[in-house]
Amino acid sequence: MSMPIVLKVSAIRKDSKNVKTYVFQHDLRAKPGQFVMVWMPGVDEVPMSIGWQTNTEFHISIADVGECTHAIHEQIKVGDRLGIRGPYGTSFEFADYDYIIGVGGGCGTPPILNLVQQAVKAGKKVTVIQGARSKDYLLFKDLFNELGIPDLKCTTDDGSEGTKGVSTDILKEMLEKLDKSKKTCVYTCGPEIMMVKVAQLCEEYGVDCQVSLERYMKCGFGICGQCCMDDSGIRLCKDGPVISGKLALQHPEFGKYHRDQAGVVIK
Ligand SMILES: Cc1cc2nc3c(=O)[nH]c(=O)nc-3n(C[C@H](O)[C@H](O)[C@H](O)COP(=O)(O)OP(=O)(O)OC[C@H]3O[C@@H](n4cnc5c(N)ncnc54)[C@H](O)[C@@H]3O)c2cc1C
Ligand code: FES
Repeated sequence: MSMPIVLKVSAIRKDSKNVKTYVFQHDLRAKPGQFVMVWMPGVDEVPMSIGWQTNTEFHISIADVGECTHAIHEQIKVGDRLGIRGPYGTSFEFADYDYIIGVGGGCGTPPILNLVQQAVKAGKKVTVIQGARSKDYLLFKDLFNELGIPDLKCTTDDGSEGTKGVSTDILKEMLEKLDKSKKTCVYTCGPEIMMVKVAQLCEEYGVDCQVSLERYMKCGFGICGQCCMDDSGIRLCKDGPVISGKLALQHPEFGKYHRDQAGVVIK
């Protein structure tokens, strides 16, 4: 689908210090890790992952970081409409695994929530590790609880909730003790520096890993070339955003730089 459908916002929830969640009554049928292009009329169109999803509604959780996301935070109220294109992109694949470990950081947590929701429904064993600057930035504790995740581990940089430190410290401990008879995959979305470490740990311990990458996107479905990664040229809107950790580590820009809308490198 390349034309947006216009959907009414049925509810808005403030989920953390800088994240608001927007609820739409629509059966989107996205796979976990897929994204939509959200059009704020008169401002811009931005990629957003699907978070919580049922067959009657879906949620997107938006961090207020720049022009478009700020306009949505400030101007969109319950009953207003936003344009939605998608879902687009590759997804987190979990059917072949017994044990799912989700590692979310900041506003990278929505696709992990969606993955966990679908993996729990499929009867998989699931652990979630969520890292944030402080307890004010942790997301979806209520929704993870509603899913009955017995193993929700949190880390904060300042120790205000959970373990003081970073999520990869906990992941390393878990990988050291992992039951190798269970087919395990680690799934991650968040700051790229965190995802590099997750992918490297998975390589070190011989565990499969899938990462969801963010790049500046325009078309969202593989036409404009805006989201190509050096050096392979894979388009992250179509060949991603979810790729294997192994493949991500082969790209010189992974964890080092990305490009702005003019293609200029930003480190
Ligand atoms: C597949 C995908 C899924 C995403 N899912 C979510 C989500 O669920 N929740 C969420 O809050 N955000 C998500 N993002 C990031 C979101 O698209 C950007 O934050 C948004 O486009 C910023 O738009 P803006 O106009 O507000 O900011 P701008 O004014 O364009 O930029 C503000 C700052 O954000 C940086 N920025 C802009 N776009 C991106 C980007 N794509 N990736 C990284 N940094 C960027 C800019 O370099 C600048 O520093 C996702 C991005 C992708 C590619
Ligand atoms: S955003 Fe156009 S090719 Fe990816």
